[in-house]
Amino acid sequence: MAGKLYDWFDTRLKLKPLGQTLLDEPIPGGASWIYVFGSATLFLFCLQATTGMFLALYYVPSPDAAYDTVQFIQQEVQFGWFVRGLHHWGASAVMVAIGLHLLQVYLYGAYKRPREVMWMVGIGLLLLMLTFGFTGYLLPWDQNAYWATQVGTNMVASVPFVGDILVRLLRGGESLGALTLSRFFALHTLFLPSLIVGGILLHLFILRRVGPAGPWNEEEARQRSETFYPRQVYMDAVVMLVLFLVLAVLAGTIEFPLADRADPADHTFTPVPEWYFLFFYQLLKYMSGPLEPLATWGLPILVILGLLLLPFLDRNKERRPRSRPVAVFALTMFLVTIFTLLGISIRDLHALPKVDPSLARGKVLFAQHHCLACHSLHGEGGKVGPDLSYVGDRRTDRDWHIRHLRDPASVSPGSIMPKFPLSDREVNDLASFLLSLKGAAADPTKGALDTEATEYAAVPSVGVAWSCRVCLWAEERKELL
Ligand code: HEC
Repeated sequence: MAGKLYDWFDTRLKLKPLGQTLLDEPIPGGASWIYVFGSATLFLFCLQATTGMFLALYYVPSPDAAYDTVQFIQQEVQFGWFVRGLHHWGASAVMVAIGLHLLQVYLYGAYKRPREVMWMVGIGLLLLMLTFGFTGYLLPWDQNAYWATQVGTNMVASVPFVGDILVRLLRGGESLGALTLSRFFALHTLFLPSLIVGGILLHLFILRRVGPAGPWNEEEARQRSETFYPRQVYMDAVVMLVLFLVLAVLAGTIEFPLADRADPADHTFTPVPEWYFLFFYQLLKYMSGPLEPLATWGLPILVILGLLLLPFLDRNKERRPRSRPVAVFALTMFLVTIFTLLGISIRDLHALPKVDPSLARGKVLFAQHHCLACHSLHGEGGKVGPDLSYVGDRRTDRDWHIRHLRDPASVSPGSIMPKFPLSDREVNDLASFLLSLKGAAADPTKGALDTEATEYAAVPSVGVAWSCRVCLWAEERKELL
């Protein structure tokens, strides 16, 4: 049946030669697990495209609506949290896959003649992917998104001569606002996808023209050869399946809550960048003062140029790592530097006081349900209900709060506070927030979220440091703003 259908199409569309070019490509030296990273990257990109399309069904790129629509996706839409989780973890996975792919190509000397153009297109794809990460980070329009993008765009402004123009182009105006958001959304969902699809096709087209490089041992490459189908296709498929399962588990188990809604007036917020930019932020910390412009634009441009021109800088014809001591040494130094910076940065993040995610969600709920219409916090809000600035000192019992929130009159007879339609989790989150409102004696001017280092244990900590949008970030970052 399937065979007949295939024949029917084949007589009309001439599929056989197509199948041959796609599947019968010879791989010198035979199929190998070490070649899977390219396909893995392609697969993850397709996953990002698919989940992104579904997110776009609900997302609205305006400062008034963006935050609410993301929250809606997270809380109301069927499986919205899962699709958003896949998109979030998928973005990180793409970076890892590209990194491994680059590493393999570098170690195997596969960028050397005649594959220089394919390498350069690949570096272009890497830059596009980083731009995807940067533009996507702003879209939820929470505090972290807003202030991290503020830092990022200010770095662009430090480029000499054209910095001002560039940054205005990027923001769509003088400051970061509605135009920036729609601009980033258009870049993230229209410009970048078309560019990257073109780039990917070019990358694959060149691969089909020059063929894969195969093992670094030319002898081995000449002795054995194998077509792409079936073994390499099988290995690629296994990797894709495993990747999807890992991402599904991550999306299903590790949550990354939104921070507060973006507040352009709140300069006290210190943002956390995505983990793949962390090493760079750490570097900026060391390069403060007159050296800073060098770090913000000089070094990135140098690294990008170095990568692009690598096939021409590295004149050594040998592909075996053992015969390329300079290249291997350079790679080792590069990796040691990056991972040391990343390590220090994560350690610093952990040393910072963390906010309990439940407490952070509670704070959001507190704003959403307009509790300040009746209550006040540090002089702000209504006078109908009691001042809640230090309610945690007065009411220390979580059960009391839970019962009170479910039905105020049950513990406080005659109360006019309304019963809010809250889920069990929401009641618990609100209670966490209310319990944290204490410290009247210690510092009468500060709220709990500024002063309290709340301990929590349930969430895997590295995952939180990486994806945590509510952690406080080091004071030093502020200097960039
Ligand atoms: C319509 C006005 C109104 C709104 C809106 C309101 N409250 Fe109340 N709230 C009151 C009043 C009146 C009291 C005092 C009676 C009582 O304890 O129920 C009170 C008491 C409280 C108390 C106990 C304070 C104490 O010192 O004993 C807490 C905690 C509280 N509210 C939390 C909240 C939260 C959280 C929200 C938002 C989800 C909220 N309230 C919204 C009117 C309101």
